Amino acid sequence: MKILVLHGPNLNLLGTREPELYGSMTLDGINEKLITLGRELGVEVECLQSNHEGALIDALQDAQVWAGGVVFNPGGYTHTSVALRDAISAIQIPVVEVHLSNVYAREEFRHTSLVSAVCKGKVSGFGWRSYQLGLRGLIDIIRA
Ligand code: DQA
Repeated sequence: MKILVLHGPNLNLLGTREPELYGSMTLDGINEKLITLGRELGVEVECLQSNHEGALIDALQDAQVWAGGVVFNPGGYTHTSVALRDAISAIQIPVVEVHLSNVYAREEFRHTSLVSAVCKGKVSGFGWRSYQLGLRGLIDIIRA
């Protein structure tokens, strides 16, 4: 089985971007950990990041062809993008929403997610571990 880990805008800056909120691990560091965990759990993890909404939509649509599910951090688009929500509900594979920070402990506008209702579940606030928890949960659900 293959899993797509998809990162949205500004997550390429992890490591130097507001480390007090997002931690000091780089995106490459997070991806390496996920690939390793995937191997332990018997799945192949593919990681992709884009700052562009359309590229994220293309990646979700493509994933339907080759992936069993998606771990997705939509970044700021979480709070604004009807088009990403529509892409998630259009595809037939489970998507788990993840956030490094606890979005509910932050500004009010981050309390609204346009994608949560069409995702299988959501992990928020565990730093890089949110991705690991999301990946474990997604694999369990697919195998159940
Ligand atoms: C984020 C939370 C979003 O509100 C923010 O816009 C991000 C990162 C997170 O991982 O905590 O870019 O998705």
